Amino acid sequence: MTDAIKLRLGVNIDHVATLRNARGGVVPCPVRAALIAQEAGADGITAHLREDRRHIIDRDIDALMAQLTVPLNFEMAATDEMAQIALRLTPHAVCIVPEKREERTTEGGLDVVRDEAALARYIAPLREAGSRVSIFIGADAAQIEAAARVGADVIELHTGAYCDAHAEDRFMARDTELNALREMATYAHSLGLEVHAGHGLTFDTVAPIAALPEVAELNIGHFLIGEAVFMGLKPAIVEMRRLMDAAR
Ligand code: PXP
Repeated sequence: MTDAIKLRLGVNIDHVATLRNARGGVVPCPVRAALIAQEAGADGITAHLREDRRHIIDRDIDALMAQLTVPLNFEMAATDEMAQIALRLTPHAVCIVPEKREERTTEGGLDVVRDEAALARYIAPLREAGSRVSIFIGADAAQIEAAARVGADVIELHTGAYCDAHAEDRFMARDTELNALREMATYAHSLGLEVHAGHGLTFDTVAPIAALPEVAELNIGHFLIGEAVFMGLKPAIVEMRRLMDAAR
């Protein structure tokens, strides 16, 4: 068994921007949420600049780059426009995700096997500019091997299917998903990749993922922002951190 690496918490603030954009004004401010998350102990902030700018917008990213003292994990699709932005800003990390206009959220992982050559060309300049490159993928050995070949530093395993199965009381499916995540975290780590995980995690589902010794970072957003309505953002983050540490 691998010695557990320190587990970082990245807080995704996209849905503060979703709420702001619902009214088209300036509140609630996602940058303010990011600064509170930082104060509450987040090790990093994640923000996804979508092609359609449905939540985070360009000036949010500029403000986060200027104001954060913890690293920014800049989520984006592998488009020319996003490469230009990432190369201009050189955030600490770039996480490449698949993006479909019609989806409500990032539904699945990237198909690295299908787009291997193009992704290798896409990633090289981002790494040369100094960003760590992460690829968001499902728990699939072929995708992980391709991620290693294209030069990713990190893979982020999609925990959505595991969380959905838990929420719908499909416990056998949940355990199957969890086993796949466990095996693939070990496999990716053995190939020299840093392993992150995220999507859909809640107070109820975080512990088994936080317990995976090879996982170095969890990125959590929607649940924390929702829970902030009831208990406040800082207490929600502090509680998530406590559950992660207890599971480790
Ligand atoms: N990690 C990645 C790569 C994501 O795309 C998202 C969703 O934007 C998350 C983590 C966070 O997911 P959630 O908002 O469901 O916690």
